[in-house]
Amino acid sequence: MELTAFRHQVGGHFGILSCNGHVAKPSNLREMAFYKVMNSELKHFSPAFCKEVDVRASVNPVTGQIIVEALEKLDCHKKKSSSKHERSSTGFRQNTDGHVTVDTEKQWNPWAAECQCKVVERMLKEPDPTPFLLLENVVAHYTRPCVLDLKIGTRQHGDDASESKRHRQLMKCRHSTSATLGVRVVGMQLYEAETKSYSYVEKQEGRRIDAAGFRGYVKRFIKCCGRSRAARIRQKLSKLRSLLAEFEGYRFFSASILIAFDAEAADSSSDDAVKVCIIDFAHSTFSGFFEDLAYSGADEGCLLGLDSIVEAMEPNVPKDPSSQMSSYEKKI
Ligand SMILES: Nc1ncnc2c1ncn2[C@@H]1O[C@H](COP(=O)(O)OP(=O)(O)OP(=O)(O)O)[C@@H](O)[C@H]1O
Ligand SMILES: [Mg+2]
Ligand SMILES: [Zn+2]
Repeated sequence: MELTAFRHQVGGHFGILSCNGHVAKPSNLREMAFYKVMNSELKHFSPAFCKEVDVRASVNPVTGQIIVEALEKLDCHKKKSSSKHERSSTGFRQNTDGHVTVDTEKQWNPWAAECQCKVVERMLKEPDPTPFLLLENVVAHYTRPCVLDLKIGTRQHGDDASESKRHRQLMKCRHSTSATLGVRVVGMQLYEAETKSYSYVEKQEGRRIDAAGFRGYVKRFIKCCGRSRAARIRQKLSKLRSLLAEFEGYRFFSASILIAFDAEAADSSSDDAVKVCIIDFAHSTFSGFFEDLAYSGADEGCLLGLDSIVEAMEPNVPKDPSSQMSSYEKKI
């Protein structure tokens, strides 16, 4: 079963590949274990975890074309028919200097392509197969996926983080909207109908912006998706918030909310018109998971983040409390 470059990766630090209706993410023991024991209600809000597979990459020395293959086949989330936009080649190629590039003529998020090429380069050097987690690709059926990845919570590091990683992650949270809003933009891709091309927002920008900037990006996404889909997204986020408020002892350190819709489809309030998922559980925990520290209560940082997203989606949110005050003062 062949793996290809994944055009719609908007965040993350590893290359995510695409595979027969799935995304393939370099395997992580904690993340796989978390998916395997996942609470059934949470499953409604996360991509299905299908299997861990071993993957090998090999290169044709004459053409430079790279084959990335899983050693077994998995049809559980197979795409029924590939759309005309996705059918052209999305393979990798090795240049004469040994570097891997994405072999495509289509527009590509340059940062995502770089992450994916690095993963393939590493596999080419590795004599043993590399394990990947196959997860349901939540945008597999979209022709023009628009995707927003929002990292939730006020804290990002797990308790197993080294001192230096802990410090780096603390700084990222302290100097971004993670500290104040419990959420920050990790990445966004929007399909712009006028230019017939995607625009991208990357994680450095997400770390740099303040609360007003955060709301600006969320509003841009919502404007693009239309009123009916926006209402559905808000409803799904509120449901997720109510669910997670009941999750005693859970901590979703470093997890993201992934929101997606298809720019090619008409605005609609149907349930499947939008995806709202929680993803990335490599640092999530709950009482009794491995030998992790036990926490009590719900994950307040994560709930704050969900509140901030919903608030940013509300029409006409006042910019800050002082602007509210001044309009009140003007009236009296
Ligand atoms: N199930 C999925 N379906 C579609 N796209 C996905 C899925 N899982 C991940 N992605 C894409 O891949 C990106 C990175 O995923 P993820 O956050 O799991 O990676 P990560 O490297 O662990 O991230 P981080 O840098 O936050 O630790 C997401 O922003 C999203 O664009
Ligand atoms: Mg992530
Ligand atoms: Zn599957």
